[in-house]
Parts: sequence; structure tokens; C-alpha cells
Amino acid sequence: MGFEAAPNIALVKYWGMRDDRLVLPNNSSLSMTVSRLRTRTWVRFDPSLPADRFWLNDRPATAGPLQGAVDFLTVVREEADLSWFAEVRSRNNFPTASGLASSASGFAALAGAASIAAGLRLTPRELSRLARRGSGSASRSIFGGFVEWQAGHRTDGQDCYARPLFPPDHWPELRDVVVIIADAPEKHVRSSRAMQDTVRTSPAYAERIRTVPKRLAALRSALRTRAADRFLELVMEECDDFRRVCETTVPSLDYLTPASRGVLAAVLDLNRAAGHPIAGYTHDAGAHVHVFTFRPYVSKVRGRLRRIAGVADTRVLAPGPAARELRRRGG
Ligand code: PMV
Repeated sequence: MGFEAAPNIALVKYWGMRDDRLVLPNNSSLSMTVSRLRTRTWVRFDPSLPADRFWLNDRPATAGPLQGAVDFLTVVREEADLSWFAEVRSRNNFPTASGLASSASGFAALAGAASIAAGLRLTPRELSRLARRGSGSASRSIFGGFVEWQAGHRTDGQDCYARPLFPPDHWPELRDVVVIIADAPEKHVRSSRAMQDTVRTSPAYAERIRTVPKRLAALRSALRTRAADRFLELVMEECDDFRRVCETTVPSLDYLTPASRGVLAAVLDLNRAAGHPIAGYTHDAGAHVHVFTFRPYVSKVRGRLRRIAGVADTRVLAPGPAARELRRRGG
């Protein structure tokens, strides 16, 4: 069975868990699912397999990615009361483990494909809850457009799932210029581990948890009313806060390269020159930077960012679609 899902970029980040087995976050988060990028995954449970097999981008996966898939398939087997191992084939049309959120689209697509193959017929909400167990941000990639993942309160995680806020066509002018950084280092510490280091050691974390709900409400409202300046300011404020808790983690988490920092500085320059915000940066746990802007400014913003040394490429994305089942092999 095949399933396709797109990555999402967090506008309000998930960073820190109250339960790391069930992946229950400390705060609600908000994201935009993107267009053009996607993961396609096929799963087959087979009684003759001696172990789970996972082909990632046509190569056998090993170590972390393999273990992540096996752990997730174990959750699916428990839910479906199934004992067979599975063969998983998954392909990304963008670089894996580079900060382009392949874990979000990866586990969303795996949740869809594995649940169907295991005979579970899940609603999108149930699928979001299941995808969360693989990678928190994957709970949001089940839906298209603008998505909120509510942290919930229950200890069993039943009220912890994502829901769509606004559809992909809500703000037709909005664009996400993804700035791909050359030689972006592969992640050496998984996000789930890194964020727990932040919770334990960053002196700025408690303040972040106090202030994030207010920022999330403000962002939801800026989105609803399509308040461009406010939206861009809030996106950057949140990114700066996320970076602050990462940098004050012991040992310090620094995901950016000099080129990434050059992009952040160039965005501030562009806004200063324009006299109001025309672009807003954000990044996740990786070196690439997402620069939000609006259609009339895309060529100006892109032209400026492309000139920065160490920028390999830029891709212009828009709000993208919900995850979906693929009817035929090959999609
Ligand atoms: O879903 P994970 O475990 O890869 O963690 C995602 C963490 C961030 O991307 C930094 C923030 C987010 O909300 O997506």
C-alpha cells in the first residue's frame, strides 16, 4: 500500500516532551505543509520475512533510520494485533536528514502506508495520532495548508493530535523560499534527544514555555486576517526564541552554518531597506533556512539570498496538500 506526505515547516516549534515514549509535547505547535517536496512510501506485511526491511531512496537503511522505522512498525503491529514483519520502500524527492523535515513527511507517509497495509482504517485524526509516535512533527504532515498540533493534557495522548487550521489556498500570495545551504552537516543528535537536553539544561526554556501559547494565538490571528507584517515578525520572533533555547542548551546546539547566519542577516537588511517587513526567516534543527515572503517580493528576496556565499540553491514553495493514499505502485 502506498502513501504520500509532504514536509511541514514549523512557524511555532515543537521542542520538548512531557512523555517521550508517547511523544507528548510540552507545547502546541503550528506549521505550514509545503508544496513540491514529498515522501512516497509503500509497505507490505509478509509472514515469510525474518525481520523488517527498509529501503530508503533505493538503498537499504541502517542504524538510526532503520531503528526508527522498526520501532514505528512495532507500534502499528501492536495496534493492528499483527505479528508479521514488513518491507518498507520510501523515497524522498529532496535531501534526507538535512533540516528539510524528512522525518515529518517520512513518518506521516509511513503511518499512512503501514496502517492501510495492516488493515487499520484510520481517520485523518487517528492517523495524526499514530504518525506522532514516529516523529512529533509528522502528526502535522497528515494535513495540508496551515496546521496546529495541540499538545493536549491527557497522559494517554488521546487528545494529542494535529488539526487543519486554514486550507492551502487560504493565503494565495504567501511563499516559502527555501534556502539550501551547501555542505549542510547531517544531524548527529536526533531532534527527540536534543530537545530533551534543552528541557533539562537551557535556562531560557521555562520562559519559552510560558510565552509560546501567546505567540501561537497571535500567529493564528495574523494568519486568519492575513496580516502580512505581523505574520513575518512573529515567525522571526519564534525562530529567534527557538534558537536561543538551542544555543543555551548544554552542550550547545548550533544548527546553523555561517551561510545560514548570512541569510538571517540578509532578511533583516531587506526589511530595513524596505521600511517594513517583506520577508521573515525561520529554521528547524538544520542549516537550511525558510524565508517567508509574498509573491511580489519573491524575485527580489531570492536574488539577494542567492548571492550569499555558501548558498547552494533556493526553491520557492507554497502551502501544500494533505497526505494521501497512492492507488497504484509508483504513484
Ligand atoms: O519531529 P521531530 O522529532 O523531528 O522534531 C521536530 C523539531 C523541529 O523541527 C525543530 C520543530 C517542529 O515543530 O517541527
